[in-house]
Amino acid sequence: MRYNKTHYDTVTDAWTYMLGDNLHYGYFDPPELDLKDATDKLIDSLASMASIDADTSVLDVGCGIGSPAFYLHRRFGCRVTGITTSVRGVEIAREKSEAYGISESVRFRVADAMDNGFPDDTFDIAWVMESSHLMRDKGRLFAESYRVLKNHGCILLCDLILIEEFGIEEIFKYRTELAILEKSFGKAKMETLEFYERKLSEQGFQDVEVVDISAKVTRTLAEWKKNTVSNKDRILRFLDEEAIDDFLRACDILSAFFHDRVLGYGQAKGVKRL
Ligand SMILES: C[S@@+](CC[C@H](N)C(=O)[O-])C[C@H]1O[C@@H](n2cnc3c(N)ncnc32)[C@H](O)[C@@H]1O
Repeated sequence: MRYNKTHYDTVTDAWTYMLGDNLHYGYFDPPELDLKDATDKLIDSLASMASIDADTSVLDVGCGIGSPAFYLHRRFGCRVTGITTSVRGVEIAREKSEAYGISESVRFRVADAMDNGFPDDTFDIAWVMESSHLMRDKGRLFAESYRVLKNHGCILLCDLILIEEFGIEEIFKYRTELAILEKSFGKAKMETLEFYERKLSEQGFQDVEVVDISAKVTRTLAEWKKNTVSNKDRILRFLDEEAIDDFLRACDILSAFFHDRVLGYGQAKGVKRL
């Protein structure tokens, strides 16, 4: 299958200077953690919802440049297969995996989460870290994840969430802010935690759990802004001034949305049990 250049192909190199190698929010607990430790802590927090060991095989759905996959492998010894629609993401992730000498255990390929190409009953964990908001059809994401999970396997997910569902009124009210967010972060479809809970159950997942961790992640946005300002010269090799300004504004918008409880951040788990 040929993949067109995605939003992530355009931003990935710049984002490593803005967000760091983990392309996700940080879990600031304790609050004084730096961004690197906080983003690792988000991985710990999600991983703690399941049991992972050296016999576990993980499908990392929307794997960025592979950092969560490397972290999981280092911490638990598990095998990880990362997929993303970004060719650039896979290129960077593979280079790193080779350089670390773990390319037998931590592999990457370009694939779409909606139709990932793996056989049924292959993985113990479907790890969906901050990628589901980029997929409009969550039902299809969950069906495809369910299909490739073994019996007793589980889906672990974390992402931005809506606190309350958006109606036409909210879409109109926030149209300017949403357009700026889309320019910086790509086309997104956020949902409430209740939506995630319902959709996972409808798909057949059992023991579904959801948790709102908004308060722990909010500081991330100030950290991304700080990085962007201090690394601006390096970022300009990949993004122009306008894109950098948009990103800074997007961080302010997200901070305000978190503050006003328009948006938040959640984690979810479901188990496949036949
Ligand atoms: C915010 S990044 C998160 C990356 C990584 N999980 C991390 O935490 O560092 C979102 C990722 O989802 C990927 N993605 C978006 N849509 C996808 C899809 N339909 N199938 C697979 N990956 C997708 C993007 O290419 C990107 O790698």
